[in-house]
Amino acid sequence: MAKARIAVMPGDGIGPEVTTEAVRVLRTVGDLFGHRFEFFEEPVGGTCIDQHGVALLPESLRRVRRASALLFGAVGGPKWDDPRAPTRPEDGLLAVRKGLGVFANIRPVRVYEPLLGASPLKSPALASVDFIVVRELTGGLYFAKPKRIWESRGERRAVDTCAYSESEIERVIKVAIGLARSRRSKVTSVDKANVMATGRLWREVAMRLSKENPDVQMDHMLVDSCAMALVVRPETFDVIVTENTFGDILTDEAAVISGSMGMLPSASLGSSTLGMYEPIHGSAPDIAGKGIANPLAAILSSAMLLRHSLGLPAEARLIEQAVDEVIAEGARTADIASGGAAISTREMADTLIATVKALRAAQR
Ligand code: IPM
Ligand code: MN
Repeated sequence: MAKARIAVMPGDGIGPEVTTEAVRVLRTVGDLFGHRFEFFEEPVGGTCIDQHGVALLPESLRRVRRASALLFGAVGGPKWDDPRAPTRPEDGLLAVRKGLGVFANIRPVRVYEPLLGASPLKSPALASVDFIVVRELTGGLYFAKPKRIWESRGERRAVDTCAYSESEIERVIKVAIGLARSRRSKVTSVDKANVMATGRLWREVAMRLSKENPDVQMDHMLVDSCAMALVVRPETFDVIVTENTFGDILTDEAAVISGSMGMLPSASLGSSTLGMYEPIHGSAPDIAGKGIANPLAAILSSAMLLRHSLGLPAEARLIEQAVDEVIAEGARTADIASGGAAISTREMADTLIATVKALRAAQR
C-alpha cells in the first residue's frame, strides 16, 4: 500500500475541467489497489492573478515541494494577454518549473491507430510512430538574464539571453540516454551548433556522453532539419533531446502528428521523485466551461505520475490500457471525433473509469 499527498494546480481555461477528471481516475485507482492518496489544490496562473495579484504564491510552492507529486492543468487566456501586463499567467508555470527544479520535460508521442485519420500526415508508417521528446525545461531563453525591454535612442529594444552550462546540458542528456535504454536505444540530440554558441557546447557535451555510453546510439541534428524530419519520417525517432525553446516548438509539431493534442501527457522530472505532470495542450479558452474538452491527456499525465513519482508502474499501465480500450471502442470527445458523434469531458472520464474497474476486476 502506498501513501501519497498529491498537489493539484488546476489553473485556467479547461485546466480545472481536465484535472478534476484526472483526480477522479487517481482516486479510483487508489481505491482499487488499496493506496491512500490525498489531494490538495493550489492556485496558479490567471486565476491566481485575479485572486492574489501574482501568478504563483510563494507558500503554494513551499507546499508543493513537500508533496509527492504535482498534477498541473494549464494556464493562460485572452483575459491576461496584454503584452504590457506586469505579470502573466505563464510566469506562474515557469516559476513552478524552476522552483521544483524539474529540468527534464518528457513528452511521449504515439499514434493511436483508431485515430490515424485525425492526423494531418498521410505517411503509411504513421501507425508505428512512437518517440519521446526530452525537453530541457529550466534553462536557456526562458530563464537566463538579461531579459528585458528598454528604450534607447528613440526606440524600444529588447533582449533575451540563451545560456547553458555544461552540467545543465549533461544532466538532461543523461535522462534521454536512460530512457532510450529501456526503448530502442537511439537518441537524437538536437541543437543549432552551426549558429549558436550554446548549440556548440550542447553538441560537444552530447558527443562526449555518446562516447561514454556506447550501448546507446546517438545522432546529432540541427533543429531546422529535425523539424522537417519530424513530418517526413516521424517513425524513425526514438528519443529526441533538446534545449528549452527548441523543445517547446518541436513538441507542438510532434503533437499534431498524433492527431490530437488532447491525447498527449507530459512529465517534468528533476533530481528527486517529486515530479510535475501536465497535459501538453494549453488552457483552450475557446472551449473552456463547455464540458467538451478531452480529459485523456490529463488522465495519461496522472498515469505518468503514478509511474515516475509514486513508483506504481502496474497502476500506470492499467490507466494506459484503459485509454487504449476506450479509444478502440470508439469513445470520442469533439477534438478526436472527426466530425462524428462526440461525448463530454465527464462522459469520457466515466467511460474510462468503468474500463479501469473492469480491467482491474479481470486481473484478480
Ligand atoms: C508548454 C507551453 C509553455 C512553454 C507556455 C505556456 C509558457 O507552451 O508547456 O509547452 O512555453 O513552455
Ligand atoms: Mn509549448
